[in-house]
Amino acid sequence: MASTMHDTSSAASITQVVRPARSFRGSLMLPGDKSISHRYAMLAGFAEGTSRLSNFSTGADPHSSLGCMAAMGAKVETAGKVISVTGTGGVLAQPKGDLDCGNSGSTMRMLAGLVAAQGEVYRFVGDESLTVRPMERIRGPLEKMGARIELTDGHAPMIIRGGELKAIDFETPIASAQVKTAVLFAGLQAKGTTSIAEKIRTRDHSEHALRAFGATLTRENDRLSIVGGQSLHAIDATVPGDMSSAAFFLCAALLFEDSNVVLDALGMNPTRASLLDVITGMGGKIKVLNVEEQHGEMVGTIQVNRSGKLKGMDISGALAAQLIDELPVIAAIAPYTENGVKIRDAKELRVKESDRIALVVKNLRAMGAEVTEHEDGMDIPGGQTLRGGVIDSGLDHRITMAFSIAALRAEGETEIRGAEAASVSFPEFFTWLDELAIR
Ligand code: S3P
Repeated sequence: MASTMHDTSSAASITQVVRPARSFRGSLMLPGDKSISHRYAMLAGFAEGTSRLSNFSTGADPHSSLGCMAAMGAKVETAGKVISVTGTGGVLAQPKGDLDCGNSGSTMRMLAGLVAAQGEVYRFVGDESLTVRPMERIRGPLEKMGARIELTDGHAPMIIRGGELKAIDFETPIASAQVKTAVLFAGLQAKGTTSIAEKIRTRDHSEHALRAFGATLTRENDRLSIVGGQSLHAIDATVPGDMSSAAFFLCAALLFEDSNVVLDALGMNPTRASLLDVITGMGGKIKVLNVEEQHGEMVGTIQVNRSGKLKGMDISGALAAQLIDELPVIAAIAPYTENGVKIRDAKELRVKESDRIALVVKNLRAMGAEVTEHEDGMDIPGGQTLRGGVIDSGLDHRITMAFSIAALRAEGETEIRGAEAASVSFPEFFTWLDELAIR
């Protein structure tokens, strides 16, 4: 695989050339889950004592969270593969400058909840993509609790003037684990018991992480409650491998009849594992080995290969919300399926690191595929042959990686423009792709 420097209109960026493959085989242990790494970074930075975090995500996003915690007084040290975070004991200092969240919506939204109860002023900024992502969704509940939040046209830069908070009963209007987490982190410090009801159950890493750091939370049906005024203590933890990074290699395994991929120490939290049902539904055969629990998170080894034909499927409703990060790669391999893929109820894709519906459609067409765009999804007929094309990553990590996987079965080479975006969640992606792709 070759990479060259390439000039785009806004900034110099890397073009990665991906050649087709004959098969996809190998075993690896993925870097730590991005979602869990964010939560461990924030809670370790807030807790009392020194947490030791192994297999922390190598992605830029969770490092933005660590950077923000350091800017508010946490001590972050790296020794080999272990990151030690000495927390602030529940008091977050006024940062000297802006809290720079980079490309990370998780950092900005979840940290908003943590600082909302603190007695200082915090100004959050991000890169070009993060600066247009919606922040009203956290302003609503946090202002009801008593924080004062200033947005710029509904986006960052965002200024939070924290203070004493009161508990609320909150019903999430959109399926968002980031919003739920912001309210939980604020509720941890509020007066009274904060409760949150979710119509669609989103990833529950915050609940597990809060418990691991010593907080008590209760759940009754779809209602989660947290009593304010609890303090947290440090933990030693190993972050499980990232299921959303695994999705790229699981989809690659689906593309070839004699594929075989083994992923060790993979996070298999049930709120993230619907991907495995989808992989099975599309014709993958999955063996799960050695499952154990670590700080509430399920971790195991999986072996995946393809059994029979590559089948398509319809994805909508709660499944679309639970697979939101995996939809770009499922869509990118959809033309190769027998009967196509239909995606609906996934409007949130339009407000991720890019408008992922528009970019998936544009890039599928660049590879010669037929696709129909809908406001909340797309229809991608099966039985299509793709040709190598020029892919616009939109500097979105998941678009970059999704089309690198589609390229493995295309006719001819594919150029991925803005391929450096992969490092937001998975800097090792192209190295591993090269290792597992058989040419
Ligand atoms: C995340 C939740 C999801 C997801 C994002 C990470 C999290 O976002 O898309 O990549 O770690 O809680 P929303 O909560 O906005 O759906």
